[in-house]
Amino acid sequence: MTQLRFLLNDREIALSEVSPSDMLLDHLRIARRLTGTKEGCAEGDCGACTILSGRVTPDGLVYEPINACIRPLAACHGTHIVTIEHLAAPDGGLHPVQAAMVEHHGSQCGFCTPGIVMALYGLWMTDPDPSEEMIETALQGNICRCTGYRPIIDAALAAARAGGQAMDALARERQDVARRLAAMRQGRVDVSRDGHRAIVPADTDDLAALLVQQPDATIVAGATDVGLWITKFLRPIPSAIFVGALMKDIRHQDGALRIGAGVTYSEALPMIRRHLPQVADYWLRIGGWQVRNLGTIGANIANGSPIGDTPPLLIALGAEIVLRHSDTRRQIPLQDFFIDYGKQDRKPGEFVEEIVIPTPGARIAAYKVSKRRDSDISSVAMGIVVREEGGTITDARIACGGMAATPRRATAAENALIGQPFAADSFAEAGRAIADDFTPLSDMRASAEYRASVASNLIRRFWLEQSDPDLPVTLRDAAKEVA
Ligand code: FES
Ligand code: FES
Repeated sequence: MTQLRFLLNDREIALSEVSPSDMLLDHLRIARRLTGTKEGCAEGDCGACTILSGRVTPDGLVYEPINACIRPLAACHGTHIVTIEHLAAPDGGLHPVQAAMVEHHGSQCGFCTPGIVMALYGLWMTDPDPSEEMIETALQGNICRCTGYRPIIDAALAAARAGGQAMDALARERQDVARRLAAMRQGRVDVSRDGHRAIVPADTDDLAALLVQQPDATIVAGATDVGLWITKFLRPIPSAIFVGALMKDIRHQDGALRIGAGVTYSEALPMIRRHLPQVADYWLRIGGWQVRNLGTIGANIANGSPIGDTPPLLIALGAEIVLRHSDTRRQIPLQDFFIDYGKQDRKPGEFVEEIVIPTPGARIAAYKVSKRRDSDISSVAMGIVVREEGGTITDARIACGGMAATPRRATAAENALIGQPFAADSFAEAGRAIADDFTPLSDMRASAEYRASVASNLIRRFWLEQSDPDLPVTLRDAAKEVA
């Protein structure tokens, strides 16, 4: 196929000339003059560019809020892009979410309002009667500087009362949209502009074959990282293969979660809640809702960042990854994948296909310390898994991000725990020993001293939380503040 196709509001778009660097937000604002979608940060942080992306899943048509600023146009193939302009009723009347925002004074300067309305619309479609906590989670990726969140939260709570889902145009159009999208996703798409080539493989076998022929092509999944290469670093991308719609399998089998590399954080959340409930809160610290709807666990691993959110936790859990080259697969421990800064154990033409995560009966925790609670990059992240029998620690795995050139284990701290009593002194000793594991760097996120101190305190925090799960909430919060 030499045309990229998607639905934009009520129109079908077909494009023959597309470069990997062409972004959806520019297409909306410049080519289509749909200027209701704003540009603030152009890096997926502020939410001003929030739109809905609809795609066909095994559970039917699903609409999710995403950031248009970091969404390559090529990644939109076979999806339904819905912008703020599509919310108005045929007679121009406001959508219930918009009406509630007006009624509750949720909009002032209005710059961030379209993005907030789209995030709340995404929530309203999922659950028309959300709790305050759900609303706050839905708005993690939206920054509003002048209204403040109280009236916005009031508006979200009131939106259900302002009108039922049955009157929503998207709900009425679902079957027709699903049919049209399914018809678009047949075969490989291969388009280019100015000699820069964008390919959307037909399926995972097609991806494997393509990468053998083009091992240097950039593999793009959710583009939450690659999007910034384009918008911030203006880095040319001569050839890219878009894999965000592939490798979506997720299942629990033989005591392990098997997650396809294309599964997003949001798609994985229900299984994380079910099989690793101890880290569900941590999962919601990854980006904001829009970013979690785009970012994939496979790419978080494959890009080799020393500050990725998932590797510390996954290494502590003993996760392994399946690497595929053509039809050959090998499975390696995740901790061995990270060789050095910017260097991973991935051969030309090979790609991460699946992540295998044991779900052990152990004490498990994951921590992320960042300057801002939501939508931020960690200064230090830590995963801890401790097994204990009869009051003795029989195994301990601790892994950190942000402490070295790669995410890696803290073996001195682990050794300080193994064979010791499950007691405060053992964890105090491990908190001292972790100083031997890392020589962290200072950068704009944190100083070396701060990182070392945080890593030590997180081990203490683990003990405080685990030693008494019935601690009153205030004491548990105090324990958290220690870190
Ligand atoms: Fe800020 Fe897209 S413009 S998230
Ligand atoms: Fe002005 Fe949000 S309405 S910053």
